[in-house]
Amino acid sequence: MTTLADLFPAGDYRFHLTLRRGAPRDFFGAQDPSGRILAERARWIAENPARHVALLPAGEALLAEVADIAAAEWGYGRFSTAAELGERLEPDMLLLSPDATGAFRLQGGALCFPTGWALEDKLGQSMDFIHGAVPGLNAALASPIHQFLSRLKPGVAFFRDNWGVVASDELNLHPARQIAAPSLPLDLEHLWLRVEHQALLALPHTKGVLFGIRIALHRLDEVVRDPTVAAGFRHALATMPPEMAVYKRLDGIREKLIECVSNRAGF
Ligand code: HEM
Repeated sequence: MTTLADLFPAGDYRFHLTLRRGAPRDFFGAQDPSGRILAERARWIAENPARHVALLPAGEALLAEVADIAAAEWGYGRFSTAAELGERLEPDMLLLSPDATGAFRLQGGALCFPTGWALEDKLGQSMDFIHGAVPGLNAALASPIHQFLSRLKPGVAFFRDNWGVVASDELNLHPARQIAAPSLPLDLEHLWLRVEHQALLALPHTKGVLFGIRIALHRLDEVVRDPTVAAGFRHALATMPPEMAVYKRLDGIREKLIECVSNRAGF
């Protein structure tokens, strides 16, 4: 399990391909006894299925393999549709497979809690296209990401995390919802560190890859109570390239946020 301090490794902000190994069931198995996550997922899928669920013909075999693994290894009952994939499992579930050139493409999945992106914009697209929205990411990591996906061994999950700062505790940040970016004046009680816990799992029969995402929200006033986390967070904000701050919708608040974190943490 990662701690918040792990999100901000020593050194300046940079892209990294740090992946930890773990048991797939620890991520893909049920974790929320309250049932709130599944209830919200079902609500979004019922309200707007086209926005939250998609499956290309090339995704059908991937979905069937995930359903088999989910039944055999993660404690789920049988299911067969992409909507059921989205309603039965707590993480967002994205299905990828290599095309004739070996490039991994998004073939479908269920995405109820996107961090500012739309499934319909990325469906059928390659990893390079998908990551093209992130300034500098392809230049830094496209090749290592491709190598990693191509060599993924079955039976073990690989975990990584992304983080951002948001002004809403909504799980679903689909662009069509137009949820406002953080803005001035700042109030740490109404800002959240939004962490995407991600898992990658090889699908050995179809040679595909399953990409799972779970969202965790941490109120910023609580986050900065830990001096190590506060120092790492502040340094990441201060050293993030300007174009990345724009991408993360932090450009308008970055300076004030650094000041606020420093004051709260007593630096
Ligand atoms: C395997 C290693 C991977 C790495 C290192 C990686 C890294 C990243 C990073 C650093 C970002 C920027 C997020 C931020 O800082 O706010 C990002 C965004 C994103 N990644 Fe990945 N990623 C990986 C795999 C994948 C896979 C398999 C998918 C499959 C769909 C994916 C889909 C996305 C999407 C949709 C975004 C948001 C793009 C947008 O805003 O339009 N990533 N990724």
